[in-house]
Formats: sequence, C-alpha cells, structure tokens
Amino acid sequence: MSKILVTGGLGYIGSHTVVELINAGYEPVIVDDLSNSNIKILDQITKITGKKPVFHQLDLCDVNGVMSLATAEHDIEGIIHFAAFKAVGESVKLPLKYYRNNIFSLINLLDAYYGKPVNFVFSSSCTVYGQPDHLPVNESAPVKPAQSPYGNTKQIAEEILSDMVASGTNYKVISLRYFNPVGAHDTALIGELPIGVPQNLVPFITQTAIGKREKITVFGDDYNTPDGSCVRDYIHVVDLAKAHVAALKLMSGNDFEGYDVFNIGTGKGNSVLEIIAAFEQTTGEKLNYEIGPRRGGDVEQVWGDVSKSEKQLHWSAGLGIDTMMSSAWEWEKYLSNNPL
Ligand code: UD1
Repeated sequence: MSKILVTGGLGYIGSHTVVELINAGYEPVIVDDLSNSNIKILDQITKITGKKPVFHQLDLCDVNGVMSLATAEHDIEGIIHFAAFKAVGESVKLPLKYYRNNIFSLINLLDAYYGKPVNFVFSSSCTVYGQPDHLPVNESAPVKPAQSPYGNTKQIAEEILSDMVASGTNYKVISLRYFNPVGAHDTALIGELPIGVPQNLVPFITQTAIGKREKITVFGDDYNTPDGSCVRDYIHVVDLAKAHVAALKLMSGNDFEGYDVFNIGTGKGNSVLEIIAAFEQTTGEKLNYEIGPRRGGDVEQVWGDVSKSEKQLHWSAGLGIDTMMSSAWEWEKYLSNNPL
C-alpha cells in the first residue's frame, strides 16, 4: 500500500483528504501540531473508515523533528502538505508568524525528503489571483500582488516549489489552487472546526443558526455584482479532498513531469446572499443577518475555470450548493450534541 504523509491531516481539508485516501486504498500518515486542530478528529476518522492512521504530533518548523520524521517515515510515496496558518486578518497583524510558519515548514519538509522520488501536493489558493481581469480565471492568469501576508505565503510557496523542481530533483509537484471549501463529510463526523469566532462565511452561518452567534453580517452589498454582495466559487470539501487523490494518481503515472498548478473549484460563482438563501432553503432554518460595511481586503468576485483539472486530473466537482449547506448544518448539529 502506498504511504502518503499528510501534514495538517487533522485539520478541515486534511481530515477529509485522509478519509478519501483510505477509501482509495492509500495508507495516510498524519503529521499535525494540533495548533488549530483537535486530536479527537483521529477517532472520528477511525469511526468513518474503520482504520486508525499513524499519527505524529510535530511542528514542522522543528528542523530536527522533521529530519527524525523523515527517518521514521522514509518509505513514503507522496506528501500532501496542508499544515499552515490561514487566517487572513491575523496574518496582516502578525506577518512574521505567518512567514515563519508557512515558509519554514515547507522548506524543512522539502529538505528532509530531498533527493527521494516523492510526489508532492501543495495546498495553494485562488487568493494568488487577487481580483482577476477575466472570469472564470484560469491557471495562466497573472498572479497579482498579494492582499495579505497569508496570500503572499501561498505565492512564495508556489515559487519555491517551481524553482526547486526546475533545479532538477526527484520531486514531482502539483499545487492545487482551492477556491472556497465548505460543507462537511456526509457522516457528519468531521467538518470545519473553527477555534474562537469563525472568520469564514459558512461556519459563521451555521453557528448563527444554532444560536452560538446572535447574527451574521454580510460584508457589503454595494459591489459590482448582480445582488451587490461578493461572489465566490464554493466547493464541497469532499470534492476538494478527492482532487488530492487525483493529483497523486496523475503524478504516479508516466504522463506527468516536474511542476504544475490546477484550479480546484466548481467553475460557478455564488454571492453571499445566494449562499444565505440556499442555507435557509435547504435547512428550513431562518438566519438572522444584516448588511454591514465591506471587509478590508475582500476580492469582489472570483470563480475558476476548471477545464484543465477536468482534462488532466480527470477530476470534477459533483456536489452542489444544497449538499454543501445541508452537510455543514448536520455537522454543526452533531457538534452541538457531541462537543469535541
Ligand atoms: C479567503 C481567500 C481564500 C483563503 C481564505 C482563508 C480569496 C478570494 N479567498 O477566502 O483563498 O483560503 O480566505 O480563510 O482571497 N463573508 C460575510 N460575512 C462573514 C464572513 C464572510 O459576508 O461573516 C463574506 C466575505 O466577505 C466573502 C465571502 O463571505 O465575500 C467568503 O468569505 P470567507 O469564507 O472568509 O472566504 P474568502 O475571504 O473568500
């Protein structure tokens, strides 16, 4: 069985990807420092799959720790690197925290397996496009100056990976540029687990509906979009997880060399107000929301051209907005009955 190291494997996207790896016959090995995740997610993964993955608690900024990890887990075929800080607002206030964590961890990991034939999937983001000139945005669109240190760490990491591959190594690398992951596993045993007040739209919606938050603010309704609120390409986290399996499969064949990037979205945009309406309609819950001012740094509208992923990764998103909303809601209800 192919062993795949999954850094940040107890996080939101990481845990769903671990499940899909097991479903596809891989043996995931999880590395996580638990800084933004919960050890109980390991039991939840075990409940879903009937298999308990090997787990290493490790901060990837610890060079010696990463070297020891590479000795212990020397026989891996691939790495999926999720572990990173991701709060855009915090990154503006604490840039060094973001540059140190997100960049050092990547370099340490690459160093530790340097020279080995490893297939590497990097967790990138549509944030690298900023506000694109053309929509849907495709992978050859120019990368725009980053709006935040968080966004910059994604751009820098992509450049590091591309330069490293160009220098001639045994790594093959794919960066997946995610659009907006939402929703939860259909068992409702894993999902997004924000620490403190959620920054992202869907967890804020579900926490408001369950009564943990009084109301949700729509950040601006005066954008140049059909209903005035921002537009994003929301993708179900299980579809997104499957894209990682597709990326590993592509790299393990003979048709892929070097480095490439792929958009991972649905190819469709939805506004904030449409997401709220879809939530209300699928769940039957009335949401207390108000229109507020714009949030600094928000892009007006972005959705992806996913034809390259469809053709080359043989992957496409299958789950729609209704499933995204209902699964996120089932997870929120599960959490309120079974606090982790
Ligand atoms: C951004 C990045 C994404 C990154 C993510 C990390 C872009 C286009 N996207 O996502 O790459 O991975 O941050 O967190 O740069 N909203 C509200 N009220 C709320 C919360 C959000 O109206 O309480 C709105 C936002 O203004 C936005 C939409 O909902 O229009 C989605 O916001 P969010 O879930 O935070 O994701 P992005 O900011 O798009």
